[in-house]
Amino acid sequence: MIMNHLYKVSIGVIFSTIISLVFYPAMAAEEFSPYVDIKGNINFPDGFRTSMVHLGSWFVPKGDASGFHDVYTEKKTVEAYWKTGKFPDGATIVKELRASKANNYTTGQGVSYATNNIKQWFVMIKDAKGRFSGNPLWGDGWGWALYKPDNKNKNISTDYKVDCQGCHIPAKDKDWVYVEAYPTLKKK
Ligand code: HEC
Repeated sequence: MIMNHLYKVSIGVIFSTIISLVFYPAMAAEEFSPYVDIKGNINFPDGFRTSMVHLGSWFVPKGDASGFHDVYTEKKTVEAYWKTGKFPDGATIVKELRASKANNYTTGQGVSYATNNIKQWFVMIKDAKGRFSGNPLWGDGWGWALYKPDNKNKNISTDYKVDCQGCHIPAKDKDWVYVEAYPTLKKK
C-alpha cells in the first residue's frame, strides 16, 4: 500500500517537474509582460487607447515630430507609481504621435487638435531585472521600440543607444521618462 502510494507521489512529482521545465520560460515571460517574448522581442500593444490610461500629452509645434504626442500606460502601473514613485517591473509606456490640425472654434482662434493621421509609436517596457543583457534593444532598465503605421508588427529600432538614449539623457534622473508632463502619476 505504502509503496504504491509513494510510487504515485513520485510519478506526480516527475510529471509536474517536466511540465514546469517545458512551460516555465513561456510562463515567466508572460508574467513579466504580455508584450515581450522570451527572446526580448517587443510586440506592439494593440488596443492601448482603450486598455490603458492616458498619462498626458505634448504638443510639438514644428519639425518632423510636429503634432500631438499622447502618452499611455497601464492602470496598475499608475497605481504602483502612486505607492512607490517608480515604474514597476513590466510597466509599458506608449507614446503615439498624431499630426495636428488647427481651426477657429467657439473656444478661440487657431485651436489645435489631433487627427487620426498617425506618424509613429514609441514604446518602453520597464525591466528592473536586466533580463536581456546583450540585446541592443534593452538597457538602462528599459526595453525600447519604435513602430511605423505601415507595419505595426515590426519594431524598426535596432539599437536603443543609437535610436533613443541620446534624446532621453535630460530625463535620466527620472528613470529616462519625461514625467513632468504626466499629471496622472501624481496622486491628488
Ligand atoms: C529627437 C529626440 C528623441 C528621440 C530620438 C527619442 N525620443 Fe523618446 N522622447 C523624447 C522627448 C523629448 C520626449 C517627451 C517630449 C515629447 O514627446 O516631445 C520623449 C518621450 C518618449 C516616451 C514617452 C515617455 C517619456 O519618456 O516621457 C516614450 C515611450 C519614448 N519617448 C520612447 C522612445 C524610444 C523607444 C525611442 C527610440 C526608438 C525614443 N523615444 C527616441 C525625445 C526623443
